[in-house]
Amino acid sequence: MQLYVTEDYRELSKKAAQVVAEQIQKKPGAIIGFATGGTPMGLYEELIGKYNQGEVDFSGITTFNLDEYVGLTREHPQSYYHFMWENLFSKVNVKKERIHFPPGIFTDAQAVCRQYEAQMDEAGGIDLQILGIGTNGHIGFNEPADTFEISTHLVDLAEETIEANARFFGDKTEVPRKAITMGVGSIMKAKSILLLASGKNKAEAVSHIYSGFVDPRVPASVLQLHPHVTLVIDKEAAQLIEEKGASTWLHSQ
Ligand code: GLP
Repeated sequence: MQLYVTEDYRELSKKAAQVVAEQIQKKPGAIIGFATGGTPMGLYEELIGKYNQGEVDFSGITTFNLDEYVGLTREHPQSYYHFMWENLFSKVNVKKERIHFPPGIFTDAQAVCRQYEAQMDEAGGIDLQILGIGTNGHIGFNEPADTFEISTHLVDLAEETIEANARFFGDKTEVPRKAITMGVGSIMKAKSILLLASGKNKAEAVSHIYSGFVDPRVPASVLQLHPHVTLVIDKEAAQLIEEKGASTWLHSQ
């Protein structure tokens, strides 16, 4: 695992944008897995800046988002489709027909999950998957559980997640209780992974990525088994790794 510890959120966003831009420059037809949440917003701003400067061309990429809330249409202001459209896709030259999301509205959950997996495989697999992390260690919407869910699946959101995400909805009762998310296996199939974390409320979850134990009760711990993970985290999120004296401390800036 490559670890970059940044001074602050701005530096984190710049470093993350450099990683994503390099991937697209190296492979203009790259398949990129995108994430939502507050953490990648700075990254997306930086990418828009790079696009405006002519440094990155999004016209060849294909996108797959990690997850979507069940019950929200694409137009709903809190749907992840809407989030990505507002924060990145409408501001760069990504081709609309190459944007993929799990649906929020459907009749047959199993069928749409199977279809999403098939679409990722047919596209050739994700080259770079961007991830945030929940305070409970979730990745995508893979919540703490007794076992890992491997493929894209329907999930009941954890109470902690509903509370954490209520800030986007104004009222906790408005937060959907279910989502469709890529599974842990779908994420681990990505050729490389970029995980972002900012702030001391993420320090505990991040420290589990260095625990030496893979535990489905902290889904992000599975990343220890992936050969190409880059962590870009600010120093507050890194606090507990430093205390543990992580042996995998490869790089710090
Ligand atoms: C959501 C998303 C995750 C994200 C997490 C952290 O629940 N499904 O993909 O990583 O929240 O979000 P934030 O970056 O806002 O802390």
